[in-house]
Amino acid sequence: MISRSTIDQVYEAARVEEVIGDFISLKKSGSNFKGLSPFSQERTPSFMVSPVKQIWKDFSSGKGGNVVAFLMEHEHFTYPESIEFLAKKYNIEIEKTEQSTAEKKKTNQRESLFMVNKFAQEQFSKDLWEFSEGIAIGLSYFRERGFSDHTIRFFGLGYSAQQRDHFFKILIKAGYLEKNIIDTGLVIKNDRGVVDRFRGRVIFPIRSMAGRIQGFGGRILSSNLKTAKYLNSPESDIYHKSQVLYGIYEAKKAIVREDICFLVEGYTDVIQMYQKGIENIVSSSGTALSSEQIQLIRRLTSNVVVLFDGDAAGLRAAIRGIDLILEQGMNVRICSFPEGEDPDSFAKSHSLDEIKTYLLDEAKDFIQFKTDLLLKEAANDPVKKATTIREIVQSISKIPDAIKQEIYIRECSSKMEVSEVILFNTLAQEKNKKSVPIRKIDSNMDKQVLSNQKSDIKSKSVNPIILLEKQIISILLQYGNDEASFDELLVSSDKEGNLIEESKTVHSKVHEKIFLDLQQDEVEMIQPEFQSLYSQLIEKFQIEGKVQLEKIIHQEDPNLGKILTDILLADEEHQLHNWEKKNIFVKDRKSVVGQLVTETILTFRRYLVDEKIKNLMNVAKQLNLKNKDPDFLEEVMQYQGLKKLLSRKLNRVI
Ligand code: CTP
Ligand code: MN
Repeated sequence: MISRSTIDQVYEAARVEEVIGDFISLKKSGSNFKGLSPFSQERTPSFMVSPVKQIWKDFSSGKGGNVVAFLMEHEHFTYPESIEFLAKKYNIEIEKTEQSTAEKKKTNQRESLFMVNKFAQEQFSKDLWEFSEGIAIGLSYFRERGFSDHTIRFFGLGYSAQQRDHFFKILIKAGYLEKNIIDTGLVIKNDRGVVDRFRGRVIFPIRSMAGRIQGFGGRILSSNLKTAKYLNSPESDIYHKSQVLYGIYEAKKAIVREDICFLVEGYTDVIQMYQKGIENIVSSSGTALSSEQIQLIRRLTSNVVVLFDGDAAGLRAAIRGIDLILEQGMNVRICSFPEGEDPDSFAKSHSLDEIKTYLLDEAKDFIQFKTDLLLKEAANDPVKKATTIREIVQSISKIPDAIKQEIYIRECSSKMEVSEVILFNTLAQEKNKKSVPIRKIDSNMDKQVLSNQKSDIKSKSVNPIILLEKQIISILLQYGNDEASFDELLVSSDKEGNLIEESKTVHSKVHEKIFLDLQQDEVEMIQPEFQSLYSQLIEKFQIEGKVQLEKIIHQEDPNLGKILTDILLADEEHQLHNWEKKNIFVKDRKSVVGQLVTETILTFRRYLVDEKIKNLMNVAKQLNLKNKDPDFLEEVMQYQGLKKLLSRKLNRVI
């Protein structure tokens, strides 16, 4: 856990305009900076940064907040990753608290490995561009494959010299400890001494979502050698094969922008496609897709298209892993390439338009794809057909959405010429096998829950803002650490100035969503006790990842303890507890919680923006500057625009 004092130091040192300026081009405008919103496709800048208040606000999407909120929104960092990023930028040493000495050692160890990897990547790259052997062998290989110099630099590709310990000697000379070098797996120690793992190979560095070098892949160049074509870093404290996705750092912006992620098998597939202009692409690096990898993608989108090589052999084995993606509620499509082609070769020999058209035309819904494929294999073989049907229904049973399941069953029934009744029975059998029973959704219950919440807000004649504040605390206490899905409305304008609305489902933890949405300037809760509880809860979630009720209930201020108890008891009465007992899907729970959060936050923010406009008008009246100051007028207009945006979003969710 990062210490309080480190976090304070980071906030003190970080300048919001400097950090944002690294990502977006900002222009001075009065006492603020302005730029084009990175969250929508706008043509007139409505993204503002205030150096005085140290906040930013994006009037086109309604997002805003402090410097950390920017990194979380823009770079998809977690809270600790944002703090670490800033600490690095401002040369602040990170101090961790409540770590045992063993844990501290582990953290330092991991940091040391990252440092070795960072240096190694730079060295491999140097050896590619500046070392005669690297130029002759490595660089010419990449160029032959059709990678441009820009692409080679962009992906940080490199070369490891043939001499057995060339690389090891450089690292030692640079002052890295032998133990750390060995722990990264970059060199191998055996009884005959130390050898470079990747010697004589071209190098593909593998970056994490936050851009740190986790490990490497190395490809052999001579085809006659009896050694694996690709070698990868071995498992270590910082490299876990099942948790890395090649290209995620480079692709993450495009994945969010396009709201879809292409998944391929190889390093070169990613690079070639990226170079052609398909930037939302990642690779599982030849391994079966793991649930950790899917979760990485899910932070960015719910839509995945898996691209398979043209050889039919691997196809059957490969589609098995896809049930895992379905299980996480993602939409999966499959696109296979012509015999003998893989995404790399296809991208190389086609134009961007041709590739796009191909992907669009060929990407088939996974269940349909699987049905077609298996049925072809089972044609005229009744025994095989029976197994096939079960296999397909198994996939369908993994989809958490009941309505989708039903649609698929109907479709498969006609395709496979089997009655729906039989398929539904098989589906029921499959579901019974699972440990968590999935039964019918009680949709009335959902509605009731939400309307309870609503009447709670409306019926009493207390200041609605205070009730909303209380509700936010209550949501944090109950669902803060839950994953939920949120429907977001993106509004942008086209060339003619018409508004385009686009909705998108994002998944995140409830506490993250609340923090990011409320990261507005001057969002201070009216009730100081709520403000204090809110800050405490958010901080606990962000730094520790969870809130322990037993701990939080013991407040220094007895008044806070009492308020907490009241909220917790009230929750008992009318809340969404025991969902499982009431037979509610995990998936549905996610969207109901998501809706509750969205609705509460939007209502709260609309009230606050309204207050803000009123205050601005009051100040203007007193100073009598209403019609004179263009900056002021613009500010009022921006807020009025924001209010409209919030209302529109609210109308959609209710
Ligand atoms: N792979 C691996 N070890 C191997 C072979 C493959 O780790 N011995 C991984 C690599 O990440 C590789 C991916 O599986 O990128 C796909 O393998 P393959 O299709 O054989 O490689 P390509 O990417 O097509 O490689 P190339 O075009 O360079 O031959
Ligand atoms: Mn290939």
